[in-house]
Order: sequence, then C-alpha cells, then structure tokens
Amino acid sequence: MNYAAVIFDLDGVICHTDQYHYQAWKAIADELDISFNKKINNRLRGVSRMESLDIILEKQEGTMSTAKKEHYAAKKNKRYKELLKEMTTADLSSEVKSSLLELRARGMKLAIGSSSKNARFILGRIGLDGFFDAISDGNNIEHSKPDPEVFLKAALFLGMEEEACLVVEDAEAGIRAAKAANMDSAAIGDAVICGQATYKLDRISDLLEICK
Ligand code: G6P
Ligand code: MG
Repeated sequence: MNYAAVIFDLDGVICHTDQYHYQAWKAIADELDISFNKKINNRLRGVSRMESLDIILEKQEGTMSTAKKEHYAAKKNKRYKELLKEMTTADLSSEVKSSLLELRARGMKLAIGSSSKNARFILGRIGLDGFFDAISDGNNIEHSKPDPEVFLKAALFLGMEEEACLVVEDAEAGIRAAKAANMDSAAIGDAVICGQATYKLDRISDLLEICK
C-alpha cells in the first residue's frame, strides 16, 4: 500500500510520558486511599483524562460526584504538567527524529493523533513545536480512542483521504480507533500483542520499510 500520510500517536510512540502519568495518578490514588499500580496504569494508555480517573475509581466503592472528579482530574493534570517540565529535547530519540525527517524527505505528510490535551505542550518540550503538518488532540475531540474521531480529524486537517493514512500506535484502543477510521495501523510496544494491527514494528524506523 502506498501511504501519503502517517498519523502518530504521541505518548508511547514519539516520546514516553508513562512514568509521569503514573506518578501524577499515583499521588491522587494515594490521597483517595485507592490501590494503583503499573498494570492499572497500562490500561490508561490512549484513554482520556476523565476516563482514566473512572478506571482508577473502579477500585473504590460508591460513586464520586462530577465536581469532585473534575477537582481530582485538574489536580492530577497540574502535577503531571509540573513533571512534564523535566522533559527536554533529549527525550526525543535520535532514531525517532531521523525517521520523521526521512519520511518527510520522502514527501509524506506527518500528523499527530493523540487523546492528550497536553500534546502541544509535550511537543514543545521535546523540540517538535511546529514540526507536524497537523495536530489532532484531546482539545478537538468529543470521544477518545477507541472512537475514530481523533484520527478522522487528523486526516481532515491534512486534507487526506482515510485510506491514504497510516496510524502508528502503542495502545490497543488506538489500533481499534484506526480500524474504525478505515485506516491501516502499525503497532509498537504493548499494542503489538492485540494482533489487530496491519503491521508490527520493533522500532519506529521500521516505518521506512513500509512507507517506501
Ligand atoms: C494519552 C495517554 C493517556 C492519557 C491521555 C490524556 O492518550 O496515552 O494515558 O490519559 O493522553 O492525556 P492528558 O494529557 O489530556 O491528561
Ligand atoms: Mg500512546
């Protein structure tokens, strides 16, 4: 297949923010006296902030009011953004950077398709401010992955047909979202085991074999 565009998930694909999400959610879980571990944290990949809180609250009896949920989600985000300030251009691997540059040199359009509302902030930290041709993120969607909205919007922003776009994802929710968007997908990391992606990547530079 000849693709004209690649839509990259951000967290877990372009860079790694897992540890910061974990630390920030762990502080909230501790405050609420709810057990939280790396296994639960893995379930939060690709899932929106509020849906992540709902997953954490599964361990707690009863229901929490919307106002309280908003309070804890905002508190988590404040802590998370503090931690993100530790990120620098060193958090963009040379392998990812050179792959992006090579794909662009081959004439491909490059976009971000992320559920995060902090996508632009993170891109700024790692030196990719203004690099992508389009950014579709948590600020322009109503439904997060596995809903296809974030990828459909990315294709729209690029002015591309869905079939011409390849999605790169580390979360099963993202692979399912790509499928629902009628886009092929390349799985990396944890998403590989779901077996639903069009391609499996060992590393991002494997894309150079797929997008020739
Ligand atoms: C990405 C991450 C998720 C996170 C979501 C929302 O998809 O993989 O773990 O919950 O973004 O992030 P935000 O920065 O908006 O809280
Ligand atoms: Mg991800």
